[in-house]
This record gives sequence, C-alpha cells and structure tokens, in this order.
Amino acid sequence: MTSISPRADDHVPTYRHNVLEEELMQDIHKGFQTADQTTDAEFLFRFLDRVHANESVQSYHRLMLDLAPVVAGQRILEIGSGIGTVAMQLAEQVGPSGYVLGIDKNEMFIREAQRRGSSRNLPVEFQVGDANQLDLPDASFDAARAERTLMYLENPGQALDELVRVLKPGGEIVIFEFDYDVAVIDTSDRELKHRIARLLGDSVASAGIGRQAQRLFKERGLEGVAAMPHLLRADLATFKIVFGAILSQAVQSGKLEAAEVAGWWAELEQAEQNDTFFVGLLGFVVYGRKPATA
Ligand SMILES: C[S@@+](CC[C@H](N)C(=O)[O-])C[C@H]1O[C@@H](n2cnc3c(N)ncnc32)[C@H](O)[C@@H]1O
Repeated sequence: MTSISPRADDHVPTYRHNVLEEELMQDIHKGFQTADQTTDAEFLFRFLDRVHANESVQSYHRLMLDLAPVVAGQRILEIGSGIGTVAMQLAEQVGPSGYVLGIDKNEMFIREAQRRGSSRNLPVEFQVGDANQLDLPDASFDAARAERTLMYLENPGQALDELVRVLKPGGEIVIFEFDYDVAVIDTSDRELKHRIARLLGDSVASAGIGRQAQRLFKERGLEGVAAMPHLLRADLATFKIVFGAILSQAVQSGKLEAAEVAGWWAELEQAEQNDTFFVGLLGFVVYGRKPATA
C-alpha cells in the first residue's frame, strides 16, 4: 500500500521557495548523526519545522496513530525527539494524567524542545540520552516511538532492544523509518539518478532500516507486527537541503562532475517551474506489541 494523500499537492506551494546557497552546504545528515557542531543549529530546527509541515509527513503521522492509538493517561517514550514537535502533540493527547518523555543525544535539540515546550504546560519532558543505552527502568512505558532516527544508528537493533526493555507487557512500538536505498525521482538521466540515489544511502549509518524493521521487530518477539510502506513526497526546497551537501561533497571528492550536478539541478528546477517536479522517498511505518505475558 502506498499512502500518498490526494491532497499532497495542495500543501507543496508553501515550500516552493529557493534554498539559500549556504543552506545547500549544510550537512543535515552529519548534524543528525553526530551531534556535530559545524552544522548550524537554527538551520536544523528550520529543516525539522519544514518537514513537519509536509502533508505526506502528516499523513504518516495519522497512520502511526491509527496503528497505535494514543490513550489518555499513557506514558509514551520518543527516542530521537529532535525539537519536540511530535512529543508535544503526544503530550496533548495523553493529557494531564499521562506523561511523554523525549530523548535525544543532541543537547541542542533538547534545549530547543524545552524552550518550545516551556510555556505550554504539557506533561512532557526532554532529556539528553542515547537510544542505544536508555537510562530508564524496565517496563516503565505504555508506548514507544521513533521517527527518522534509527537510520542514524550504526546498530538500530540495539535501540529496539532498549525500547522493548522499557515497554510494559502489552506496550506498543511504532516507528517511521526511511529506506534510503530507494529514491523515486522523475529525471531523464536514469544512470545519474542511480548514482545520486546511492550517495543518499551512503550518507546515513543504516540506509536499509525501513525494509529491515519488520524483521527486527519479529526477531525481538513483538506481536502483531505490521510494516506499511509510505512514499514521502518531497518538495524541491526540502530535496535540495537533503541532497545539497551530499552532492557538493561528491563533486569535491571526484565522485560526480560539477557539470552533471549542475545539469541535474537545472532539470529539477525546470520541472518545478513546469509543475512536474516529482520526488518521493520510501519509508515504512512499522508497528509491534510486546507480549502481554513473558
Ligand atoms: C531526522 S531527526 C528527527 C527528529 C524527530 N524525530 C522529528 O521527527 O522531527 C533525527 C534525530 O535523532 C537524533 N539522534 C541521532 N542519534 C541518536 C541517538 N543515538 N540517540 C538519541 N537520539 C539520536 C538526532 O539528534 C535528531 O534529533
């Protein structure tokens, strides 16, 4: 099942503006993966805001909620909570009797999430922590979530072990992760497209987590496992940010010619002007439940 909202295009024009040249040099993957201080924090915050406003991101959020409905009073853990957008939405849903904890290894995201949450009186906390080794007691959460985070881990299975450990019996895990080996891009040079898509996969630690997640869930004894494919439609500006540094670095290292990269962008700019730009990144919403009895 591919769940592209029929309304996706309605939302794209909001983001049809050019990306600044200096933004094209910012390496978002490095910023998310290594808590790297060379990537400008404000740029990463703006990028996450841009992502959360994307209709096809909102439609996978709805799918996550359908699979693991949020109930008042629940205790929910989110790993890789970034600037806290989702954790705060979940906190609204669990209400005052519930609790949401956002964990991120990158202190600048935690500070930003705390700043954004400070005036909202929500049952949410944000703490610096490593998804690979959670400083949390066993069986202490009703539900756990991750979005576009396991792809940055060398060993996503270790983080899943941790999520299963901290879930109560019967607790639910739902994630959204890309398969970064798949990029659907309407462009004329198929060979160049394959080379560029390969660079995208090489830019993260676990490009294949999207397709591997249902197996990893089952190997950990989770029940009711479901993996739903979801094509995330990207607008040109977001696409430029995701690929900008990757392509600049590929030119610098001689993997791509400057002229072919210039031609690539020119074709995509033209497609944008013709209203024919089409890019989709494949991801999966994956659900599983910890057995009620051990
Ligand atoms: C692409 S961002 C997604 C943020 C958030 N989930 C969202 O949807 O906006 C990936 C996040 O994972 C965090 N991250 C990366 N490695 C991590 C780790 N080992 N433990 C916890 N968080 C990590 C990054 O700091 C970043 O905030």
